[in-house]
Amino acid sequence: MRILLLAHSFNSLTQRLFAELAARGHDLSVEFDIADSVTEEAVSLFRPDVVLAPYLKRAIPEAVWRQVVCLVVHPGIEGDRGPSALDWAISKGEESWGVTVLQANAEMDAGDVWASVEFPMRAARKSSLYRFEVTEAALRAVLLALDRLFLPGFRPQPLDYGRRDLRGRPQPPMRQADRRIDWERDDMATVIAKIRAADGDPGLLDEVEGLPCYLYDAHPEATLRGVAPGSLIARRAGAILRATRDGAVWITHLRLAGGPGPGRCKLPATMVLGARADELPEAPVDDFSPADCSTWHDLWYEEDGTVAYLHFDFYNGAMSTGQCERLRHAFAQATRRPTRVIVLMGGQDFWSNGIDLNVIEAAESPADESWRNINAIDDVALALLTCGSHLTVAALQGNTAAGGVFLALAADQVWARDGAVLNPHYKNMGNLYGSEYWSYSLPRRLGWEAGQRIMQRRFPLLAREAAKVGLIDACLGTEGSFVDEVRARARALAADPGLAALLADKSERRASDERLRPLAAHRAEELARMQRNFYGFDSSYHIARYNFVNKIPHSWTPRHLAVHRSGNRFASPEAAA
Ligand code: COA
Repeated sequence: MRILLLAHSFNSLTQRLFAELAARGHDLSVEFDIADSVTEEAVSLFRPDVVLAPYLKRAIPEAVWRQVVCLVVHPGIEGDRGPSALDWAISKGEESWGVTVLQANAEMDAGDVWASVEFPMRAARKSSLYRFEVTEAALRAVLLALDRLFLPGFRPQPLDYGRRDLRGRPQPPMRQADRRIDWERDDMATVIAKIRAADGDPGLLDEVEGLPCYLYDAHPEATLRGVAPGSLIARRAGAILRATRDGAVWITHLRLAGGPGPGRCKLPATMVLGARADELPEAPVDDFSPADCSTWHDLWYEEDGTVAYLHFDFYNGAMSTGQCERLRHAFAQATRRPTRVIVLMGGQDFWSNGIDLNVIEAAESPADESWRNINAIDDVALALLTCGSHLTVAALQGNTAAGGVFLALAADQVWARDGAVLNPHYKNMGNLYGSEYWSYSLPRRLGWEAGQRIMQRRFPLLAREAAKVGLIDACLGTEGSFVDEVRARARALAADPGLAALLADKSERRASDERLRPLAAHRAEELARMQRNFYGFDSSYHIARYNFVNKIPHSWTPRHLAVHRSGNRFASPEAAA
């Protein structure tokens, strides 16, 4: 089928659908929803059988939906309408929610229903629900709808609020007034639910020490307490602790209210508060301690017999200089333990998305901070590549992109959750050359030519496909079972009598690779190119980062996505590899 994906941006859901539909042999192209005339032009150039709109912020023009069937993916149950579907579902404490695929018509979200899939809700940030439950349900609903398009006699169901089984209702856009925290009245659970319903976008508008800002990423605290609700109690790893009337909440990120500008992106809370946070007492936790549900930490360690697990749940998978240093330190400690396998678990939502572009953007010298950050992440990669004492595994629960993918490839084995999406390329960020020793670890797995093709292709890759082409070692269970499968495989690996031989092979191979070309030479060459990206005359990295961090909408669709404009056909991952 010829399918035109029409989306506000190539976001995670659009990427997942794109990759899944491509894997099923559909003929695809993408157009960003920039203007009605651009959409109309895309339709006349590509002549799709169907337009699929996974992520839209505006209505599809009438000239288009009258001409071709347009299927809109709405992140709400049947009957639900409006732009704040998930926000309301979280706020109202819905126990189950859903995704509906409906046909675009003159009224937003009111078209005939082609498919609807429900899922149980989870206590999580809106963006996390979107990346997991919504994405899985959307995929199922889209596949159902596409099947039904050609099912003889199938008629989509008109929206009929007279139906007794129809739970959904039209809902207004959620405004900041609806989200407001009443610190005197709201308890800890309510404060957290309110922040989660607005996280990652638009954030919950509040005041911290008199400073208007949006709050993100809230976690409960069980023991520390403050004096007055809303007051600041302590700081930890960039986060702040605020008192509620019955407890306290950690808030890791803030964004100053107002439009884009220096220091106005989403940042670690203490960076935004500056001197206001300097006076707060530190409430440290040991990064090398087990998970502690009574408080928040973004880095923790656990041991199960001879298997060690290192978790680094950094917000949005972005790894700042300080976070890379902490991770390297924790990894070094892990290698001194009498375990045999170290599994790097990353975070639940993302394994890693590489260097922290927001912190870089807010730095006095973004070029200098980029340099520090890439060196710090390279140091983590180096520690993995040169670890002779343990077998290392990168276990990708969530999506992984750019430097994060190549950091994962520094481990001996890479296992990813079926459904995770990898973006093994840097070019989209202003033609960054990239580092993390990719020039060693990518050819080691795929050979130079195939590795280059995968990188240049600039497409999202399903974990399943990444395993098929040999970029990673295994694609395991879905959401619920992935961690259990990782644990079982890691235990088996650690118990394998052949592990000593594996470790010996690994050291031998490392030594022979080192003789061929030292890791230091790979790093020096990569960093020489990165230095040009950061400090050279060509400022495309700085412009791309500014646009990314400040969420400046695209003014045109990249040509590798809009194949109806470039004339190229999208190459399958197998063909690229
Ligand atoms: N630094 C800082 N923030 C990052 C980030 C990074 N490296 N990568 C992703 N994010 C943030 C996004 O700004 C977004 O923030 P939000 O919560 O305010 O919306 C959030 O993570 C999710 O990213 P988004 O782009 O909405 O998610 P996605 O799943 O649709 O796309 C990526 C994921 C990774 C493809 C895309 O975010 C990306 O290209 N990131 C940059 C990767 C990169 O170039 N890293 C630096 C080079 S190593």
